[in-house]
Formats: sequence, structure tokens, C-alpha cells
Amino acid sequence: MAVMSVDLRESWWIRDVEIPTRLVLAPMAGVSVQAFRRQGRRFGAGLVCSEMVSCAGIEHRNEKTLGYLRVASDEHPLAIQIFGSEPRTMAEAARMVEAAGADLVDINFGCPVRKVTKTGAGATLLDEPARAAAIVEAVANAVDVPVSVKMRRGLRDGSRTALEVGPQLVDAGAATLTLHPRSAQQMYTGTADHSLTAELVSLVDVPVIASGDITSQARAQSVLATTGAAAVMVGRGAQGNPWALREIVDGAGGEPMREEVVAELVLFIRETVRELGERRASGFLKKFYGWYLGRGRFPRPFKQELVVLGSTEEVERRLLAAAPGALRLLEQLEAELPAGDDVLLDLPISIYGGG
Ligand SMILES: Cc1cc2nc3c(=O)[nH]c(=O)nc-3n(C[C@H](O)[C@H](O)[C@H](O)COP(=O)(O)O)c2cc1C
Repeated sequence: MAVMSVDLRESWWIRDVEIPTRLVLAPMAGVSVQAFRRQGRRFGAGLVCSEMVSCAGIEHRNEKTLGYLRVASDEHPLAIQIFGSEPRTMAEAARMVEAAGADLVDINFGCPVRKVTKTGAGATLLDEPARAAAIVEAVANAVDVPVSVKMRRGLRDGSRTALEVGPQLVDAGAATLTLHPRSAQQMYTGTADHSLTAELVSLVDVPVIASGDITSQARAQSVLATTGAAAVMVGRGAQGNPWALREIVDGAGGEPMREEVVAELVLFIRETVRELGERRASGFLKKFYGWYLGRGRFPRPFKQELVVLGSTEEVERRLLAAAPGALRLLEQLEAELPAGDDVLLDLPISIYGGG
């Protein structure tokens, strides 16, 4: 079937928030740190999203949780995603998210992981539409920024629950819905069935974002044209591969040169160390080495070499030795970024509960 081509560089709106492109970077737990989101914006994502943040963690002022609420000046527009099962605590968490500077509060009704679903949060809420709607309503009443909801198709394979629940969530105040049309049972197996996305689009009068298996401009174009979604969301395709984002929005690209890969990875390492500290960052970063250096870009043993090194400084040195031309690119990249100290906005003191 011939499909009409959509300009992915066109802006669109979620209520009064302008999203400059039709590409959204997916929230991914253990991935969507600030460095990932800032990089996503640089490579063409019009909207970026934090990983899911526990509303209980926010309520208890857990220090690590509060760290997820740090917003950089060059991330906007940015959604911060919260998960939980109680309307009151979700509303309170949403207020903190808004105070931290998020442009949107996103609610997670999609997480299939047992640790989350057993607390009554994430995808299980799709089977409790009244509670899900009560959460959306409480959150929408608590904040001035628009509220978005991200969901799966339902809990079990073949489920169409999202089509029943989605319109109820819009009535409750959701300004946009993101659908990842796999069941929770499927986790990440099989394929995302975007015929459900098309059905959801026809049922609601808010913009819908299509998530699942979008890795190229051709696929993005086909999903936008066949579903009527306002935007596509990209997750796994962007892991260690911001160039995929550029290809999706601009059609430009092809494989980056080794020097570019190393420059982006070293920048990512430096920023992540600044954000998480050396100890947390060095464990967190290991999976990224494989993501960046795989795809035939470097021989496999090179990654193995990096993951056993003792510090991120050693990793950086080894990377720059493997692609010396990267240093100049890295300096250029760093010169173009806002200075570190300008980026991390302090959280309002009230967020720490005064101490
Ligand atoms: C490692 C990982 C972590 C994820 N964490 C979240 C999350 O915190 N919140 C959420 O709504 N979805 C999460 N997702 C789902 C993604 O946002 C996205 O919907 C899904 O991966 C399908 O898109 P893709 O095929 O482009 O990866 C996660 C996915 C992955 C692979």
C-alpha cells in the first residue's frame, strides 16, 4: 500500500506544550538518564521522558528517587513519568514533578514487571479502569501542566483493554495517550500490533503516540500514516544509537564513523559520571559499551576489554586510543553544550522537605 509521507520535523501540541518534532524518546528504566535525554534532544527527539519514578519514593523523599527529578535546561520539553497505585500519592508526586520543572507529567500504566505490578501499579491498572481513571483525575487536578498516560494493550495476549480504558482516561483528564500495543504478558516478545494504535486514534480526540518496534524512518512513516498517530516513540532502537533518531526525523544518516561513536560515548560517560557519581555510573554504563560499540562498529573483544576496566577514566582513555580522531569531535561537542553548572537546575528546597 502506498502511504502518504508525514514530515517528522513538523511540530505538534499537547495542549499548550509545543513538541518540535514527531519523534518522542521512550522512557526506559535503567537507561533514560539525563545524558540520554539530552542526547536524544540533540539528535532530533521533540520530547524526551524520564524513566519511571516511584511515587512512594517521592513521598518518602528517597534521595535516589529525587535524583530522577533533576531537569536540565536543554531537555525541554520533557515528561517525567511516575508510577504508583494510590490517587492521593500520585497527585502529590505529580506536584513535585511539576515543581521540578517537567513540562508534562506522564503516568505509567504499562510496566509489566512483577516488582511493580504486584504493588497494584503499572500495567495491572488496565484491569482496574475505575482506579486508573481516579489516578488520572487526581493527577490532572493537582497540576497545571498536561498529563499523559502510557499504556500497553492489556495484560494478556490478544487483549484489547487499552481501547476500553483509553477513552475513560481521556475523560478523566489525560491530554495525550501513548500506546505500546503489546500485552504485559508478552513483555518484549512478538511484535507491536499497531492496528490497535489506529483503533485508539479513532476513539479519542487527544493526540496518540505510537510506541513499539520503530527503528527507521520508513517504519515511522508507515506507522504514522496507517494509524493517524501524532508521533512515534523510539526506545530500544536508540540505545547506543542516537544516529537512528536522526535517520528517523531527517532520513539522513547511515552508519556513523568510529570517531563519532567514540566521541558520543565518551561525552555520555562524562555526563553520566557527573549525574550519578563514578561508583554508580561505572556499573550503569557497562551495558552502553555493547550498545555503542556493537552493530559491527568495533570488534567484539573490544567491548569485553572495556567492561573489566576499573574506572570510567580508563575506559575513556582506551576509547580515545582506539579512535584518536574522536578527541577533536568531542571537544567540539562539549564546546556546543551548555556548561555543566548551567544545566543542573536546583530542585526547590520544598522538594527535600526542608532538609
Ligand atoms: C530497558 C527498558 C526499560 C523500559 N522502561 C520503561 C519505563 O520506565 N516506563 C515505560 O513507560 N516504558 C518503559 N519501557 C517501554 C518503552 O518505553 C517502549 O514502550 C518499549 O520498549 C517499546 O518500544 P521500542 O520497541 O521502541 O523499544 C522500557 C523498555 C525497555 C527496553
